[in-house]
Amino acid sequence: MLGLKLPTDPRWVNIVEKNIEEILTDHAYCEQKATSTAISLIVSFPEYTELVTEMTALVKEEISHFKMVHDRIIANGWVLGRDRKDDYVIQLIKFFPKGGSRTTQLVHRLLYAALIEARSCERFRLLSEELKDKELAEFYRKLMMSEANHYTMFLGFARQYGDREIVDKKWQQLLDYEAEIMKNLSKSETIHG
Ligand SMILES: [Fe+2]
Ligand SMILES: [Fe+2]
Repeated sequence: MLGLKLPTDPRWVNIVEKNIEEILTDHAYCEQKATSTAISLIVSFPEYTELVTEMTALVKEEISHFKMVHDRIIANGWVLGRDRKDDYVIQLIKFFPKGGSRTTQLVHRLLYAALIEARSCERFRLLSEELKDKELAEFYRKLMMSEANHYTMFLGFARQYGDREIVDKKWQQLLDYEAEIMKNLSKSETIHG
């Protein structure tokens, strides 16, 4: 349903379980970046009223996810660490060439956002199914459902604002590229690592 072409190796959960503090730190910043992306789309494309309306709602939702993760960090007696580099996203956003019309740039940003939501959703599902800590597993099950909705929304906007045929072709190409990136990942205790 998410369209991803390479599932995460379930052994990634074993790596995560050895360092919950690290995954929560990385996860907190994923939620912060999702918030920042929504704000940035508002600033860059203010004339797309429906997008601005949805992004305004998304800012609230993503920052509430950040709070949920941050609260868990505090409850464990930890302090939020510094931001972690997201090699997955750094590699991903090299796919589409820079420039093009405003609409093209918007479509590319929406497709990147859809894919990051889809992969996050897949990772959260795996955590919800495999984590031995059942309370934490339930936490990830709830977040998984939110991220699935975001994936659908971003892909829907890309298809709405761009040419449907071109967007679908680009989406498939991006999914292929992402599967190549994923072959070298699933080895660290980060949400996309
Ligand atoms: Fe989120
Ligand atoms: Fe999200």
